Amino acid sequence: MGKDVIIACDFASAEATFAFLDKFVDEKPFVKIGMELYYAEGPSIVREIKARGHKIFLDLKLHDIPNTVKKAMKVLSNLDVDMTNLHAAGTKAMMEAAIEGLTKEDGTRPLLIAVTQLTSTSEERMRDELLISAPIDQTVMHYAKNAADAGLDGVVCSPLEAGKVHDTCGKSFVTVTPGVRFADGDVGDQVRVMTPAQAKEIGSDYIVVGRPITAADDPVAAYRRCVAEFVG
Ligand code: C5P
Repeated sequence: MGKDVIIACDFASAEATFAFLDKFVDEKPFVKIGMELYYAEGPSIVREIKARGHKIFLDLKLHDIPNTVKKAMKVLSNLDVDMTNLHAAGTKAMMEAAIEGLTKEDGTRPLLIAVTQLTSTSEERMRDELLISAPIDQTVMHYAKNAADAGLDGVVCSPLEAGKVHDTCGKSFVTVTPGVRFADGDVGDQVRVMTPAQAKEIGSDYIVVGRPITAADDPVAAYRRCVAEFVG
């Protein structure tokens, strides 16, 4: 699995996104498009970024009944992204349906990655609001295993969990890890963070990096530093 740095393009408009991407002249970074940008600009933003030669992780976190997710994934498969995702909480039946919908007639499809428990969900809220009494790390690993059983390619997880996910689901099961910060950088609102070098060490396959690159004085230099530390 090719290790890569994915830039979280958390911008509110196509204009802001292209102003950012225009800074990259010599390289074409892998970019993540999330709900904000996708809902603001629609599928055209995906086509335009793709046409510029970038790989795309479409981070829409689908979660609905299997039939609806299958049909939605069929629509998304026409966008030809490289990676997309869903919530493992939708159950194995939903994940299997998603794969069916995403797979093209020639048998190819983008990488499909599961969100386990969001990092914004604490163990206390999981227990009191969702009535899930197992410890959060056990829940995360169980959801990862469900995703692997359903045939998904990997999970989004904290870089701190990447090693354990590989132990549980196999080395080739992909770990996509946000929460990355430079050793000398601002942590911002992220709580459990790792440097790109530490994420490499622990075995993350892809790191998702937003503000350390997008808010840097020199985003291209920050991106290159991430690549140098993570990919080597
Ligand atoms: O700016 P920053 O590097 O914190 O951005 C991280 C990106 O990864 C954001 O797009 C955020 O929504 C996403 N993400 C995260 N933690 C998760 C899942 C996704 O930070 N557990």
